[in-house]
Amino acid sequence: MRVIHTVAELREALAGARGTTFVPTMGNLHEGHLSLVKQARALGGPVVASIFVNRLQFAPHEDFGTYPRTLQRDCELLAPAGCDIVFAPSEAELYPEPQGYKVVPPPELADILEGHFRPGFFTGVCTVVLKLFNLVQPAVAVFGKKDYQQLMVIRRMVQQLALPVRVEAGDTTRADDGLALSSRNGYLSPEERAEAVQLSRVLRGVRESIVQGAGDHAAVEAQAMQHLADRGWKPDYIAIRRRADLQPATSAGDALVVLAAAKLGSTRLIDNLEI
Ligand code: PAF
Repeated sequence: MRVIHTVAELREALAGARGTTFVPTMGNLHEGHLSLVKQARALGGPVVASIFVNRLQFAPHEDFGTYPRTLQRDCELLAPAGCDIVFAPSEAELYPEPQGYKVVPPPELADILEGHFRPGFFTGVCTVVLKLFNLVQPAVAVFGKKDYQQLMVIRRMVQQLALPVRVEAGDTTRADDGLALSSRNGYLSPEERAEAVQLSRVLRGVRESIVQGAGDHAAVEAQAMQHLADRGWKPDYIAIRRRADLQPATSAGDALVVLAAAKLGSTRLIDNLEI
């Protein structure tokens, strides 16, 4: 496995490559990322993973400065997972000048849910992902369903900008107790880690209610939010939405997903479950 830090080296390494599969990450990898790399590996072509903590998608009060940078350990995990090239550019390499051109995704998809609580987040994500696509020129890119809205926003970008890449979704990897794996789980104290499982339990409860026929989605959402708040969480949202466009359901036949974001202490966790 090669670890590459510059655009020039990356272009040289990938010259003439066909069927490249790509897994973009911000590093501090866990089994969830590795399952995406293994999924990419199974597709056959050369596998590129990027590691870049993208300042553009962090608000000033967020954890850009403290986000764990663990390149050596990440590389030790990526090699046995089947990665061929790690692209880990510096900020100066990827953004040699202030990034004035940006990809602004449509508000009806990007300013709701995560985008409502993290204004500008998806502009930062789309901008760096498009730039990385231009550099890696993958045939396939793999994104985790853990970041469900991100996956949808990227899919729409690829479709509307006619990018020559196929987006594949990877299932969420969970700890034995059900907690979705996330780099930010590392911020949790042992007590918070024990409590964190409640988020996936609440989502399972919401799914159960809907499957049992609960029709008043707002009431189910409010009850789930209250449950977390009673346990000391600060929920941002628990929302039952159509999978197709993340808007509220309008008919009984809509395929649904429930998405949640909530703060436990100072750590903000997100999760979702298809219904
Ligand atoms: O999901 C992430 O880790 C990031 O949002 C991504 C896609 C690597 C863009 O910085």
